[in-house]
Amino acid sequence: MTFVYPGSFDPVTNGHLDIINRASKICDKLIVLVSVNISKTPVFSVEERIKMLELAIGKRDNVEIASFSGLLVDFMKKVNAKTIIKGLRAVSDFESEMQMALLNRNLDNDIDTLFMMTSIQNSFLSSSAVRELAKFGGKIDDLVPEQIVDIIVSKLRK
Ligand code: PNS
Repeated sequence: MTFVYPGSFDPVTNGHLDIINRASKICDKLIVLVSVNISKTPVFSVEERIKMLELAIGKRDNVEIASFSGLLVDFMKKVNAKTIIKGLRAVSDFESEMQMALLNRNLDNDIDTLFMMTSIQNSFLSSSAVRELAKFGGKIDDLVPEQIVDIIVSKLRK
C-alpha cells in the first residue's frame, strides 16, 4: 500500500522526519509530497525544500519525494494512493487537520487520512519556530536534521 505524507516542509524538521520514519515502517511505499498551502507564503523554494528532504531522508528503498501544486486528492489519484499520513503534535492541530481530512474525503470517498502522534520531544516543534530561531541566531541543531542546518541558517540570516 502507498501512503502519501503531504506538507509544506518549509523546512523539514525532526518532527517531520519522525513521522517519515514511523510511517515508512507500516506501508510499502511512502511518498513525501511538498504541497502548496495557500494560507502560507513559503520562505524556501520548492526545489530547496525537496533538496533538504533528500538530504534529511537519504536513500531509502520505500521513500520517495515529490511535489505537486494542485489538489492533494488529484495527486493521490495520479499515483493510485488511498491513504494520507499526517502527524499530530497537540490538540491544537486537531481542528484544522480534521477539517482537511473531511474535506479530502468529501472530494474522494475512497481516501482516508491516518494520524500519527509525534514523539514527545518533537511536540513543540514547528517549521515556523525553526525559521524564527534561525533568523535571530538561535540554536536549531537539535530541531532539524544536521545535514540541513547550514542551508537554513545561511538562507535566513541574510
Ligand atoms: O505543512 P502544512 O502547511 O500544514 O500542509 C498543509 C497541506 C499542504 C498538506 C494542505 O494545505 C494541502 O493539502 N494542500 C494541497 C491543496 C489541497 O488539496 N487543499 C485541500 C485540502 S483541504
